[in-house]
Amino acid sequence: MSKNFWQEQLKIYEKLCFLAPMDGYGDSAYRQAMKRVAPHTYCISEFYSADGLIHSKFLAWSALPHQDIEKPLIIQIFGKNPENFAKAAKIIEPYGVAGIDVNMGCPAKKVVQSGHGSSLLINEQTAFDIVKALDESTRLPISVKTRRSFDWNQDLIKFGQWLQKSGAKLITIHGRTAKQAYTWFADFTDIYELKKNLDIPVICNGDIEHFDDGMSKVQDLDGFMIGRKSFWNPWCFLWEQHFAEDPWLEHAAGFKNHIYYPTLWEMLEAMEFHASELVKTKWERKWSLEIRKHLVQYIKSFPGVKDYRKRLVTTESIEQTQETIADIRKTFSTDMLKRPGLWEIE
Ligand SMILES: Cc1cc2nc3c(=O)[nH]c(=O)nc-3n(C[C@H](O)[C@H](O)[C@H](O)COP(=O)(O)O)c2cc1C
Repeated sequence: MSKNFWQEQLKIYEKLCFLAPMDGYGDSAYRQAMKRVAPHTYCISEFYSADGLIHSKFLAWSALPHQDIEKPLIIQIFGKNPENFAKAAKIIEPYGVAGIDVNMGCPAKKVVQSGHGSSLLINEQTAFDIVKALDESTRLPISVKTRRSFDWNQDLIKFGQWLQKSGAKLITIHGRTAKQAYTWFADFTDIYELKKNLDIPVICNGDIEHFDDGMSKVQDLDGFMIGRKSFWNPWCFLWEQHFAEDPWLEHAAGFKNHIYYPTLWEMLEAMEFHASELVKTKWERKWSLEIRKHLVQYIKSFPGVKDYRKRLVTTESIEQTQETIADIRKTFSTDMLKRPGLWEIE
């Protein structure tokens, strides 16, 4: 993988579309579920501790292996010790990933108090040292994900320019301050200004609902990143025009106001895929606790599945899940091409 990776990608796509890193979500199964529906999406993993990776073989073993479908995959790490970032890069590199992203945006109290995440917006020198140490230690391109400022008192343009000088090859900005956490609205004004002052690609993030929404907000930036709207919804990365030109008109019929509403068949298939991929990487107990939150949400808009929802929210094994999905298929066999989100208008 070359340091010019992002510039090369921008020759393929005019704008880059990303799955945002999300702790507790962005594992291998989740990423595969997204890429299967939207192969043009670049995935960033949930964050992993740089210190953790160098001290725990188990973390590296559970976090870093991935499937070809997820490629090009970016691994996100957090920490505060530049040397440990460099050591972590050496552990990550052999797994065949496309890049390493540094978390400089997490606003969680525990993370900030430890000097990690968004606290690097106020400990700028450490932030630059981390990027420099990483850039010098690996042939992978280093990127940074941060926020527009910590508490309004930071200069985003200077910060970005120093990150670029230190070796960052792409920057993503969530259009809120760290203090705002998830309140108020994401505002991209500072991000558009930042782009005018940098040579490297700049990506915007925050409150983007779907692909077409991202395209309408991206302006001169190089791409956008979608986080929460992808929960149980890999279809948020699809764009209407693509399917309008697609001979498979069945898909084009699924769009309303730029949002794609999957058929029941597509939903069940996505659920089954997600569950069976997750079980390959998590112990059964951990798997069942994690998959329940995903499964019930996939079919939340489908009327008449209350009893099945109960079964899914208490599922204990992949076999039980598959049985429930098979039962839903049997009961609704004549409704498979219906689109639950568009139910009322059909
Ligand atoms: C559950 C959850 C976990 C997150 N974990 C991370 C993370 O590990 N690393 C990171 O940089 N941002 C993380 N974020 C922030 C998202 O990447 C993204 O910046 C934020 O959700 C705003 O984008 P959205 O409005 O599209 O969701 C997380 C957000 C959520 C909701």
